Amino acid sequence: MTKRTGSRIDFSRIRDVKVADLDEETAKLELAALAMEIATHRDLYYQKDAPAITDAAFDALDKRNAAIEKRFPKLMRKDSPSKKVGAAAATGFGKVKHAVPMLSLDNAFSEEDVREFDAGIRRFLRLGEDEKVEYTAEPKIDGLSFSARYEHGRLAVVATRGDGAEGEDITANARTIKEMPDMLMGDVPKHIEIRGEIYMTKADFAALNESQAEKGAKTFANPRNAAGGSLRQLDPKITASRPLKMFAYAWGAADTTPWETQWEYLQQLKHWGFPVSKESKLCKSIDDVIATYHKLGEMRAKLPFDIDGVVYKVNRLDWQKRLGFVSRAPRWGIAHKFPAERAETVLENIEIQVGRTGALTPVAHLQAVNVGGVSVTRSTLHNEDEIERKDVRIGDTVVIQRAGDVIPQVVEVVLSKRPTTARKFKFPDTCPVCGSHAVREEGEVAKRCTGGLFCKAQAVERLRHFTARDAFDIEGLGEERLQLFFDEKLIKDPADIFVLKTHRAALENFEGWGQKSIDNLLAAIERRRTIPLEKFIYALGIPQVGQATARLLAKNYESLAAWRKAMVAASKDRDGEAFSQLTSIESIGPSTADDIAGFFGETHNLEILDRLDKELDIQDFVRADTSNSPIADKTIVFTGTLEKMGRSEAKAQAQALGAKVAGSVSKKTDYLVAGPGAGSKLKEAEALGVKVLTEDEYLKLIDS
Ligand code: IVH
Repeated sequence: MTKRTGSRIDFSRIRDVKVADLDEETAKLELAALAMEIATHRDLYYQKDAPAITDAAFDALDKRNAAIEKRFPKLMRKDSPSKKVGAAAATGFGKVKHAVPMLSLDNAFSEEDVREFDAGIRRFLRLGEDEKVEYTAEPKIDGLSFSARYEHGRLAVVATRGDGAEGEDITANARTIKEMPDMLMGDVPKHIEIRGEIYMTKADFAALNESQAEKGAKTFANPRNAAGGSLRQLDPKITASRPLKMFAYAWGAADTTPWETQWEYLQQLKHWGFPVSKESKLCKSIDDVIATYHKLGEMRAKLPFDIDGVVYKVNRLDWQKRLGFVSRAPRWGIAHKFPAERAETVLENIEIQVGRTGALTPVAHLQAVNVGGVSVTRSTLHNEDEIERKDVRIGDTVVIQRAGDVIPQVVEVVLSKRPTTARKFKFPDTCPVCGSHAVREEGEVAKRCTGGLFCKAQAVERLRHFTARDAFDIEGLGEERLQLFFDEKLIKDPADIFVLKTHRAALENFEGWGQKSIDNLLAAIERRRTIPLEKFIYALGIPQVGQATARLLAKNYESLAAWRKAMVAASKDRDGEAFSQLTSIESIGPSTADDIAGFFGETHNLEILDRLDKELDIQDFVRADTSNSPIADKTIVFTGTLEKMGRSEAKAQAQALGAKVAGSVSKKTDYLVAGPGAGSKLKEAEALGVKVLTEDEYLKLIDS
């Protein structure tokens, strides 16, 4: 909700009695009073545009209402303010932090990948050849994942996945989905987040598009987009009119999890009243898993909904727990993708687009063709070499393919259909947007515009990325306005955004801009002056630094100052320690490191960075709370054979508990965990007086 300026915070309305101390009768009266009061203020704010209290005071009323409802769920009124979406209607969706992050799955593209997945699990768990590992195989529904919190069996909050850490509050819209239970039947944990997928069937999608087209309204590219578009409606009535469905398959935070296997959990979901896909299967072995994949592949076209693969999960939850996570995906699960869908069409033209990093990308204009239910007219040709390698010419008939969300690709030319008029494409040496030279660095595939911040294509793209939802998330500063401000020279780079308020007079000169919209925009900018380091890093738009990499960087360097210092050092010496430390971060390869160092090698980037640092409050990375862990901040070395768990499991577990795991013993070592066969490290530890533990002693210690 936007800040209401001009009136002082009115705390007198916030009751003095703690919610925990309320009795049922008073609570009932207070809920009635709150419903009226909140409705009045909503009306003043949204309908009359004349708020009487500040945002903070309003939020306090809302919070108090929610807290009382949480304590007395039975007392929730039919007209409860928590069921309304007045706030969402005007300012988009509220944010919901996921108590347990919503992660994604690694992909497998071949049978070999799947066998390696199984082998990796066996190695990690140190299982013998005869030991059976069961998996569930669940169709990978192509929809939107959600997390639905149930409090005392009642649906409380539904959120989208968002960036995994924080999603959007879609409660009001999700409530309109008939399959989403309002109340759970039977024995239910007091608090539990149910996770799954919201989707639209293929038939409903076709019917919706037809009726949209008739009305002259927007049509959707595929069922997934249609589901997304329907769910992200600000007016829940529209969502209610769209035929959305759902499947449940996982859980997030839960105060008890009395099921022992994923399969058992799926049965539990059904008992509670959730739809679970009928095609899910319990597989006894990896061969069984692969057979299920082929069977689902054959059924795919006939299923009423789109699936883009099959998800496999280790069935035993005690094993899932031991396997844990790497980066942003679990070790215990994988998504086995189906091959992409293909079609033939004519390539009519090639156009060069300039991306936000300055890369010149050739895009094929195609005669419209239907690929797996989606009309495709554009397709990427990647780069100069690809055009050359595939010998793609204008006028050619080409095979294109798409897989799920991926941009359609040109796979090959159908040479037998090449017309005599087909002509080769000459890749330009200049940027089609700003006319600067386009150069190709050694070892790079892309030609890049050297116009940097001068090139409109790049500057506005860079600003758009910077202000986008996953980055600074500045409301009211979309592409159109950024282009306007850029053209008017008010915002040339990201740091200019935060001094925009000094150009108020210029803003007032824009036609059709009232005081209120200027106030709103400036307030939206003010709200984003505080930002977590990982989002800040992502916002910079450094090539190859997406959200996951940005998070890894934040985690490793912790503060902007430390990161900046190390990166400047890395940019000066690619053989130095700073650069090698950067590449030693899991999943940051030399090419990504090169792009990061390249960014820090440009003085104009450093200038902008410093100006931003002055304007912003960039928060250091916050580590998970391991303060209760008995080995937090301890340095541990493992040696010899560990019998209860594998070396990598022991290492991952110790790190998760806040310990550092070192490879060699030194004075700084706190514990040496020595199994049978320990040699020189044990001797060194004894000589240095480092505490030595057996595996059992160590397990006892971390259990304490
Ligand atoms: S489990 C920790 N099970 O696929 C991972 N995901 O590629 C939890 N999806 O984000 C996800 N069907 O949106 C899981 N049966 C299923 C699924 C499924 C579809 C989606 C989901 C997830 C993505 C991961």
